[in-house]
Amino acid sequence: MQEKVSASAGILERADPREWRSHRYGLPTARWQTLAGRTFWITGAGTGYGRCIAVALGCAGAEVFLTGRRVEKLRETVTEAADYGADPQRFIPVPADLTDPARLDAAVLEVTGRCRSIYGLVNNAALPESKSTRWPLTDASLERWGRMLATNVTAHWHLSALLLPQVAKHGEGRVLFMSSEAGWAFTPAYGIYNVTKAALNSLACNLAAEAEARWPEADIQINVLVPGEARTEMNQGLSVSPYSVVSMALALLSHPRGGPTGRLFHRDGRHLAFAYATPYEKSLLDGSASIATAQPRQEFSLLRSAARTILRRFRS
Ligand SMILES: NC(=O)c1ccc[n+]([C@@H]2O[C@H](COP(=O)([O-])OP(=O)(O)OC[C@H]3O[C@@H](n4cnc5c(N)ncnc54)[C@H](OP(=O)(O)O)[C@@H]3O)[C@@H](O)[C@H]2O)c1
Repeated sequence: MQEKVSASAGILERADPREWRSHRYGLPTARWQTLAGRTFWITGAGTGYGRCIAVALGCAGAEVFLTGRRVEKLRETVTEAADYGADPQRFIPVPADLTDPARLDAAVLEVTGRCRSIYGLVNNAALPESKSTRWPLTDASLERWGRMLATNVTAHWHLSALLLPQVAKHGEGRVLFMSSEAGWAFTPAYGIYNVTKAALNSLACNLAAEAEARWPEADIQINVLVPGEARTEMNQGLSVSPYSVVSMALALLSHPRGGPTGRLFHRDGRHLAFAYATPYEKSLLDGSASIATAQPRQEFSLLRSAARTILRRFRS
């Protein structure tokens, strides 16, 4: 049985970051060149997906502000980018704990004071579920619940709310929220993380609706990117490179005027549905209507069967 899914063709999940000059992560040359000189802010930029997106943007000639709590990790991102041939001067570490409102305000002042305007924001930082209990929703302390929500949701709302009026004044901008299949899942042992990602999906789509209504003249595209699994600090269970997300991230961050907003995408090119949000129906890379016919993906049934397995194990 086949089902129709919307998808962008031309997304490269296995591009070697050292070979960016030849593959440009699948972007047509003209699209790649639009990234040069633009300013982006990536949170969680010292490790994992955030580092990879930051490195690729710097390789394209963008100016990139890097935020995370550990400055040494942010510096490693700059070193990795330089190893791949990017100009290290394009990267500006702004270490900050995003859950500290005073520090977040100061970071916004620092970043906006150092650039003409922010063009793109990648809300990527997150905490994983704690491994200290198998039953996070019924065992968690109020402190743990609060820290997860503060990091995975509130910080992204706060930073976006502070930056969006400035982006609107400048007339154009792109915002990505890094979500997860967890945002669609109901699985024991991951309950708080799942809740934060479902909330993040809703936050992104509601923010997109509000921005569109409040600044109708501005071209602000706010979308959700589901990066799938890769080996990062929070996920040591497999060997897939976090550079696998870059092609889709750049396709969204470099999209010309009139692109998607309030939509959800997977790193493999699929356009996803969530609540009332329907899948975007055009290709991200060539602008044509592109409804690919594909085998339904296995992830959600895999999630369901994983949940059943975990439940069985816990009950036995
Ligand atoms: N890896 C996967 O398989 C996977 C799957 C689905 C979704 N995701 C999502 O992808 C995104 C990136 O995760 P990742 O896999 O790349 O994991 P990661 O390497 O653990 O990255 C998380 C980043 O968030 C930063 N961070 C955490 N708390 C922070 C705070 N209070 N203030 C500022 N920065 C903070 C961390 O840096 P510091 O510790 O230095 O602050 C770290 O760089 C997350 O939103 C995650 O939920 C990942």
